[in-house]
Amino acid sequence: MQSLNIGVIGYGGMGRGIVRRLLACDKRLRVTALYDPDPRSVEAGKAELGANLTVCRDYREMMRMPDVQWVMIASWNCFHCEQTIAAFDAGKHVFCQKPLALSVEECGAMRRAWKRSGRMFNIGLTLRYSPHYRRIRQLIAEGRIGQIVSMEFNETLEFNHGGFIMGDWRRLRKNAGTHLLEKCCHDIDLTNWMMASRARRVASFGGLDFFLPRNAHRVDEIAPRPDGRKAYSAMDGMVGLDPFRSDKDIVDNQIALIEYENGARTTFHTNCNAAIPERRMYILGTEGCIRADVLTGTIQLKRIGFDTQIEDRSTEAKGGHGDGDGILAAELAESMLNNTPPAVGLMEGLESAVTCFAIDDAMETGTVVAMDRYWANLEIV
Ligand SMILES: NC(=O)c1ccc[n+]([C@@H]2O[C@H](COP(=O)([O-])OP(=O)(O)OC[C@H]3O[C@@H](n4cnc5c(N)ncnc54)[C@H](O)[C@@H]3O)[C@@H](O)[C@H]2O)c1
Repeated sequence: MQSLNIGVIGYGGMGRGIVRRLLACDKRLRVTALYDPDPRSVEAGKAELGANLTVCRDYREMMRMPDVQWVMIASWNCFHCEQTIAAFDAGKHVFCQKPLALSVEECGAMRRAWKRSGRMFNIGLTLRYSPHYRRIRQLIAEGRIGQIVSMEFNETLEFNHGGFIMGDWRRLRKNAGTHLLEKCCHDIDLTNWMMASRARRVASFGGLDFFLPRNAHRVDEIAPRPDGRKAYSAMDGMVGLDPFRSDKDIVDNQIALIEYENGARTTFHTNCNAAIPERRMYILGTEGCIRADVLTGTIQLKRIGFDTQIEDRSTEAKGGHGDGDGILAAELAESMLNNTPPAVGLMEGLESAVTCFAIDDAMETGTVVAMDRYWANLEIV
């Protein structure tokens, strides 16, 4: 097979990370076009992607390049919709980072463009590729804990990660959507996947209670890291604003309740100021339970009974993405080269985003929100 040409839109941290992994998978894959409005990202692209690269003045120029077959989008979330639709309309296949988009209307428009185009769409819901979560899903599918009845899940972020978010473009909803959408659409997608059902109704409370000017004194009360980096700004690559004094309109803590169409229920909890970060899942079924945390790689399973023991079903995969990045890149390379359908596509991205919109609506209005009107709006039955 000849080489396969890729255009990249957005070459920041995530754009670079996935492109590096992808290009390492197969020599036939090459990036021939790049668009990023930040000259620093363009310089990084020129240095890494070699002589064949066309640097586009805007992303539409890339759409007019007939030899670009796949477009990879890792721009800010507010651009995902227009850039994805333009790529489909130009006949390209698309890989787009999560979250799918910022509103129900955008999600619907992306779905229609995808169907019209007949092209492939692959979304960067990285945790679906993690051996950790694949093991949990498999244990559930094998019936090891019976039918799921209820579950709890969380994503509590190490305090420097919280500081990073509150100083970055993600602190504003016009760029990124809400905190739940931008950061936790992964978790809501995992919950949807484990439950194998769609959300029926949701409730939520949340707020911005810590990253406020009145708490800025905490930076000086905490001893700096041995390398001199101060608390709340020690995450690698951080160059953002003061996380306590920055303008922002996202929450730093939120809890949500979700009831699924199959009757199972879950809680979800996020907080951006954790001393002990977790991505911890506790799933209770009719015949047993699974307790897991991707940050430590732990998976424990115990069946109901007097003589049962806790089984250690941990994998080697641990850390924020549970080794999902490399597997996502390998499976994406396979899709690009052999037209294999993606493991996670547009509908999974849509269901996770729309569930996040409903949870945030519930938080803002202080009501229990029924999701049937969201699914009806999108003609999903
Ligand atoms: N899958 C994951 O686990 C994961 C992890 C982190 C980020 N992400 C997603 O990746 C995307 C990028 O996040 P990041 O962490 O790389 O941010 P980043 O700030 O490191 O990079 C974003 C890049 O997008 C560029 N950009 C801004 N506006 C643009 C536009 N109109 N067109 C093209 N490029 C534009 C910026 O100049 C920058 O180079 C976001 O959608 C984010 O949600 C996914």
